[in-house]
Amino acid sequence: MVRIAVSGSIATDHLMTFPGEFAGQLLAERLDVVSLSFLVDELVVRRGGVAANIAYGLGLLGLRPVLLGGVGADFGDYRAWLERHGVDCSHVHVSRSRHTARFVCTTDRNQCQIASFYPGAMAESGAVRLSDIGEPFDLVLIGADEPATMLARADECRKLGIPFAVDPSQQLARFDGADIMAFIDGARYLLTNEYEGALLEAKTGCTAAQLQARVEVRVTTLADRGVHVATRHERFTVPAAATARVVDPTGVGDGFRAGFFAGVLHGRSLRESARLGCLVAARVIESAGSQEYTLD
Ligand SMILES: Nc1ncnc2c1ncn2[C@@H]1O[C@H](COP(=O)(O)OP(=O)(O)OP(=O)(O)O)[C@@H](O)[C@H]1O
Ligand SMILES: [Mg+2]
Repeated sequence: MVRIAVSGSIATDHLMTFPGEFAGQLLAERLDVVSLSFLVDELVVRRGGVAANIAYGLGLLGLRPVLLGGVGADFGDYRAWLERHGVDCSHVHVSRSRHTARFVCTTDRNQCQIASFYPGAMAESGAVRLSDIGEPFDLVLIGADEPATMLARADECRKLGIPFAVDPSQQLARFDGADIMAFIDGARYLLTNEYEGALLEAKTGCTAAQLQARVEVRVTTLADRGVHVATRHERFTVPAAATARVVDPTGVGDGFRAGFFAGVLHGRSLRESARLGCLVAARVIESAGSQEYTLD
């Protein structure tokens, strides 16, 4: 069986809704002593983190992905959920002192948000090395994580000769041009959305052609316009899949990655894999949360 490791963030999102307006509670002349607590109507806890989201989708598609990342002692229920859906969590690092990463966000009735992201055990995600696992991987996907872990993981893949995919997403904001070049060099796949692709070119000062010389396959998702795939030999766009209804786009990019790499690892062409990616992404949009969809 083909083996894929997915490395990156593992987190939960705690989402609350405040029926009033934040703005009405803020006194401009007293902000130096601001102290507020909002009585909220609703709390929704969603499983997330890019690596967990991608691994969930790969598990649904019949692979048994190895999840790599850092979590806290509170990971028990989340671990059980992922294991039930085919994800191998045996190499996840459990921190002794930190909680699993958590995004806590309150949204008011005007869609204004006040949020905090606690990275917690994500800071220790580098504790488990690929070489500790003693298992050959056909592909390692390196997603947004503690930035130092992302760079170290890519280095490990180059040293061990394991094909790898780089998916910097949110962490592009933390990388300068030199970091980005060090991260992506020699990757088999580079994945971004359209904006991140442009940001990556601006930060590195590289043209699309220069970047293409560093990676084999460049995948750029284009939201409702689908996805663009480019190699040194071909380039094409696959349209987005139809959605029955748009419920919640959270995790759509991760759903695409699950479908795309399930296709690739099952030996499908890049075009077929991109279509499968779009199909899974559409299922993510149709459900609330990133890991609430099912596939038949
Ligand atoms: N409105 C939509 N209808 C159908 N498919 C969509 C829609 N939006 C996105 N997709 C699918 O999801 C894929 C990824 O979308 P997008 O480029 O928005 O990713 P992203 O910006 O990384 O998203 P994320 O918010 O998860 O980080 C697209 O390639 C497409 O297949
Ligand atoms: Mg994204």
